[in-house]
Amino acid sequence: MPTELAPRTRTPAGRFWASTIGKKAVMAVTGLVLVGYLFAHMLGNLKVFLGADAMNEYAAWLRRIGEPVLPFGVFLWILRCGLLLAVVLHVVAAVQLTARDRRARRVGYVHGRRLSLRGGRGLRSFAPSTMRWGGATLAVYVVWHVLDLTVGVANRDFVEGDPYHNVVADFSVWWVNLIYIVALLMLGLHLNHGITSAARTLGFGGGTGGWVGNLGPLVAVVITVGFLAVPLGVMTGLVR
Ligand code: HEM
Repeated sequence: MPTELAPRTRTPAGRFWASTIGKKAVMAVTGLVLVGYLFAHMLGNLKVFLGADAMNEYAAWLRRIGEPVLPFGVFLWILRCGLLLAVVLHVVAAVQLTARDRRARRVGYVHGRRLSLRGGRGLRSFAPSTMRWGGATLAVYVVWHVLDLTVGVANRDFVEGDPYHNVVADFSVWWVNLIYIVALLMLGLHLNHGITSAARTLGFGGGTGGWVGNLGPLVAVVITVGFLAVPLGVMTGLVR
C-alpha cells in the first residue's frame, strides 16, 4: 500500500516532484535563479550613484531588450513570468517539504524521543524556522515593493518612467528606510543559509569549512551590502 511519503505518480517528472530530493532540487534551482535575478537587480540599482539619466536609461533599456524582434516591453514580461514561476515553485516546494517534515517528525515521536538541545524545541530547528518565517516575510515585502516602485500605487510620490525620482523619494521617508533595511537584512540571512543548502543539494559538496560553506555568506554579504548602499546613499545625501 502506498504511504504518504511514497511517490504515487508514474511519469518521471511526477515521480521526481513527488520525491523529497526532487522537491529539494526544485527549491535549490529556483532559489539560484532568484539569486541570479537579485544580483542583476542589485547591480542595476547601483546605477543610482551615476545619476538620474544613467538609472532611468537603464530602466528604459530593460523594456527595449529584444527589439525589433520582440515588441517593446515583451522581454521584461517574459522575465517577470519566469521569475513568478520560480517563486511559485520555490514556495510550493518549501511548503510541501515543511508539511512532510512535520509528518515524519510526528511518526518519529511514537518510536522514540526527539533529539533536542533545548527541551522540545531545540536549536536544531532554528535555521529551518528562520528560513520559513524569513521567506514568508520576504514574500510580503516583495508584493509591497512592486506596488511601491513598479506599479506605484503604494507610493505617494510615484512618477511613471522615473525610477531615480521614485527611489530617492522613497528613501527620504524614515519608515520606508526602516522597512527596506529590515527586509534586506532578512534577505541576507535567507541567502546565507539558502545558497549553502542549495549548493549541497545540487551536489557541490564540501564541509562547512570548504568553499561551499563560504559561498552562501559571501554571496549574501555582496547582495545585501549592494542593496543597502541605495537607501544609505539617499539617507547620507550622497544620492539626492
Ligand atoms: C534597496 C533595495 C531595492 C531597490 C532600491 C529596488 C528598486 C527597484 C525599482 C526602482 C524597481 C522598478 C524597476 C522598473 O520599473 O524599471 C524594482 C522592481 C522590482 N524589485 Fe526591487 N529594489 C530593491 C530591492 C529588491 C529586493 C530585495 C527584491 C527581492 C527580494 C526586489 C524585487 C523586485 C521585483 C520583483 C521588482 C519588479 C520587477 C518588474 O516588474 O520589472 N527588489 N525594484
